[in-house]
Amino acid sequence: MAVQEQSRSGDNAYVGDYRRNVPGEDAELTHVGPNTPCGEFMRRYWHPVALSSDVSDLPLAVRILGEDLVVFRDKANRVGVLHRHCSHRGTSLEYGIPSDQGIRCCYHGWLFDVDGRILETPGEPPDSRLKDSFVHGAYPAEERHGLIFAYMGPPDEIPEFPVFDTYLTPANNRLIPYSLWQPCNWLQIRENGMDPIHAVFLHSRLTEVHFTEPWASMPVYEFFETGDGMHYLTTRRVGEFLWIRSAQFTLPNIGQTGGLWEEATESKYFGRVSLTRWVVPVDDTNSWIFGLRHFNDVVDPEHQGREEECGHDSVDFVGQDGNRPYAERQRNPGDWDAQVSQRPIAVHDLEHRGSTDVGVAMLRRIVRETIRGEKTPVIPTGMAAGNEVMYTYSYDTVLRVPARDDLDDEEVQREVGRRVMEAIKSGDAVSDAEAREAQIVECLKEIEAGASRRSEIKSEA
Ligand code: FES
Ligand SMILES: [Fe+2]
Repeated sequence: MAVQEQSRSGDNAYVGDYRRNVPGEDAELTHVGPNTPCGEFMRRYWHPVALSSDVSDLPLAVRILGEDLVVFRDKANRVGVLHRHCSHRGTSLEYGIPSDQGIRCCYHGWLFDVDGRILETPGEPPDSRLKDSFVHGAYPAEERHGLIFAYMGPPDEIPEFPVFDTYLTPANNRLIPYSLWQPCNWLQIRENGMDPIHAVFLHSRLTEVHFTEPWASMPVYEFFETGDGMHYLTTRRVGEFLWIRSAQFTLPNIGQTGGLWEEATESKYFGRVSLTRWVVPVDDTNSWIFGLRHFNDVVDPEHQGREEECGHDSVDFVGQDGNRPYAERQRNPGDWDAQVSQRPIAVHDLEHRGSTDVGVAMLRRIVRETIRGEKTPVIPTGMAAGNEVMYTYSYDTVLRVPARDDLDDEEVQREVGRRVMEAIKSGDAVSDAEAREAQIVECLKEIEAGASRRSEIKSEA
C-alpha cells in the first residue's frame, strides 16, 4: 500500500487494510554486526560479556555484537575472550580445555594464550614455524565486580575503563552482578531508561504496583544532554515532599537508575543508584542486560531488595525476564514484556511519538550523531580531573517543600527540580569525590530550607 494511501486513511476507522505494511527498521542505530555503523561505534567501548559466575572451570560460548566468542578462565585464573572457532580447522573452543596458560582446543590440541598467541601445535614437527606465523583473534578482558568485560575495537584505541562514582557511595554499598536475556534489539531496551513516563503506567496505574505508590503520580519532567549522553529530571509531589529523580544514559549503552522502592516520606539528599546496567547487543535481535544491583541502606532503607535473586537471567524486581508464565506476564506485564513485544527490532517509522517521547528522541539523536562522528563524547569531569571515578547524575533527592495555595505547584516542582540539578552539577568542579558529595548535600539542604521560607519561593518560583 502506498504511503500516500496510508496517510489518507487518517480520518477513517477500520484502516487495518491501509496500515498492514511494516517498513524496515532504522539500520543505522540497530544493526550491530562487524562493519556496520552502530557495530563499529559500539566496539569503541568496554562491554560486559559474561557473569564471572558463568565462567568456572568450563569455557562459555557467547555471541556479542554478532561475533561468536568463547570466554574462559585458565588455571592461573586469567580470563580470555577469544574468537570461538579454532584457527586450525574451526572446532569450537567451548569444548576446549583450560590449561595452566590459556586454552587447548579439544580436536588437535592447539594451545591459545588469553591474548590469542598460539603457544603450542603439538601435532606439528618440533621445528614447525606454523604457530609463530599468525595470531588467533582475541580481545582484551577485565574482570570487575563479578562481570567479565571485553573491548572489541581497534587495539590502539582502547579507552580508559570506566569506574562510576556510584560504585563507592555510600561506603557500605554492595554490588551484585546479574544478567537478563531479552530477544530483541538493544536500542529499544536502552531507550526505556529515558522514558520515565512508562513508570507511571506500566509500573503503577495499569498493573499491580511494581514498586511504590508515588510512582503513579505524573511528574514534571525534562531532559538534558550531557557530554557523554543525557539524563532525565522528574519531580513529583508526594504529600508535603517533592521527590526529585534523575536517571542517566551514558554512551554507548549504559544506564543508571535511582532507588526502586522510594516512598518519599522523608528528606533524602543525593541518594544514589540501585542499578548500573549495560544493554549488550548479542546480535541485531537479541541482547543481554548485564547489571550491577546496588544494595545499601540509603537506596533501600526497608531492605526490600533480595541479593539472592540476582544472578544469571534473574533480578529481584518484577517483570524483568521472560521466565514467568505467559498468562501471568499478560496480566501483570513488566519491562521485559513491553520491550520485547515492540517487535524483534522496533520500527520507528510506524511510531506516533508524543510529548512524553522527547527523551527517546534525544537518545536516538545522540547515538546517531556519535555514530556519524558529528558528536565527540566528552570525558566526564571526574575522570578529566584525574579522579579514579566518573561523576554521574543519577539520584533521588526528597525535599520537604509543602504545596502552597498562592503558587502554581507545577511551577514550584519545575523550579525546585532545576535548582536541585544545578546543585548537583555544581559538584563537577570539585575534584575530590567525597568533597563533591558533601558540597552537593549542603546545597540541597539550603534549597530545602529556602523553599520553606515563604518569601523566597514566591519571588523566585
Ligand atoms: S581444530 Fe582446533 S586444534 Fe585442530
Ligand atoms: Fe521500567
